[in-house]
Amino acid sequence: MYPDRVVSGMRPTGALHLGHYHGALKNWVKMQSELPCLFFVADWHALTTHYDDPSVIEKSTWDMLIDWLASGVDPSQSTIFIQSKVPEHAELHLLLSMATPLGWLERVPTYKDQIEKLATKDLATYGFLGYPLLQAADVLIYRATQVPVGDDQVPHIEMMREIARRFNHLYGKEKGFEEKAQEAVKKLGSKRAKLYNELRTEFQQEGKDDALEQAKAMLDDAQNLSMIDRERLFGYLEGSRKLILVEPQVKLTTASRLPGLDGAKMSKSYGNAIALREDKESVTKKVRTMPTDPARVRRTDAGDPEKCPVWKFHQVYSDAATLEWVAKGCKSAGIGCLECKQPVIDAIILEQQPMHERAQQYLDDPTLVRAIVADGCDTARKLAQETMRDVREAMGLGYN
Ligand code: TRP
Ligand code: SF4
Repeated sequence: MYPDRVVSGMRPTGALHLGHYHGALKNWVKMQSELPCLFFVADWHALTTHYDDPSVIEKSTWDMLIDWLASGVDPSQSTIFIQSKVPEHAELHLLLSMATPLGWLERVPTYKDQIEKLATKDLATYGFLGYPLLQAADVLIYRATQVPVGDDQVPHIEMMREIARRFNHLYGKEKGFEEKAQEAVKKLGSKRAKLYNELRTEFQQEGKDDALEQAKAMLDDAQNLSMIDRERLFGYLEGSRKLILVEPQVKLTTASRLPGLDGAKMSKSYGNAIALREDKESVTKKVRTMPTDPARVRRTDAGDPEKCPVWKFHQVYSDAATLEWVAKGCKSAGIGCLECKQPVIDAIILEQQPMHERAQQYLDDPTLVRAIVADGCDTARKLAQETMRDVREAMGLGYN
């Protein structure tokens, strides 16, 4: 009933690397041409773990935004904004918190994991526990239907679906819902109203799914309905509740994963990363010094690509012919490791070329980035305010 919409966010961790590009940004760039997308810098999320040293957040935010733009996230297609500049996220977080069982937050797998992993930090805080609920607010406030994330975030999306369902259940039962829904049916005009009632009966009494689909399609076409009446009619089709918040779907990033130079997960803190906008000389040097299959001590020793991180890079960057050339050449000692690495170096440099070009204008004139974000914040805020009006009203705060 609500239009398709994509929302995703990223914590400002500073300049991004190619792992971020292949793991997330490439997918964002693709999605923005298919559906309306909102992408935001999750600066409040950064505070949940960096509350004791927030000084890095500001610079990281702007660096990351330039990397997004450099990757091809396009402000004329996507809405790009900063979480803390849309304070409605915080209001929804607060309101959702009223009805969120503590147990739901405590059992999110990343909660205990992160506390153990980041043992040097005191994360026994209220903000850290509430993190997934803040994330739920980030998404639900835009009534997003799809959230592109990596698999580590799937439990968070599952929890937000439960939050939305619980919210609709608790607050979607309006006083006089039945009457209001019937009023709304009349507004469809007599022909459509008749069809609506028939389809609703078919669905409710005979369980015909196609009747439900047909009715939904009809409502989608009915231009003269207000948002709130439309919601009622969608809810009335299936039962007796309004649908105020939308349950989003996970859109798993299937992109091939690019590991770090040593084959482990690429991460700036492991020192195995190639920055998104790393210069050519440095890329060349980093790839040339990458470890390879330890069995290849001498040029004449045969190797096994499966034991070599360079092979994983080839799988991301090379075509079938090159892959075959590597596999054969490695196992027969027909090629040397430096020779093998060259096509990877060339491919990375080629991939980064347009990124450097796109980034340049923003480096030359940082006010461009400020303007893009200001625009994005305006757009996001309007959407967020629409949802908040309904949420406040549903929770009994619609008075003035
Ligand atoms: N939690 C996400 C991460 O650490 C970032 C994030 C915050 C996010 N809010 C979001 C992702 C909403 C998707 C949707 O990567
Ligand atoms: Fe790795 Fe290529 Fe050397 Fe084989 S030839 S060990 S795949 S770098």
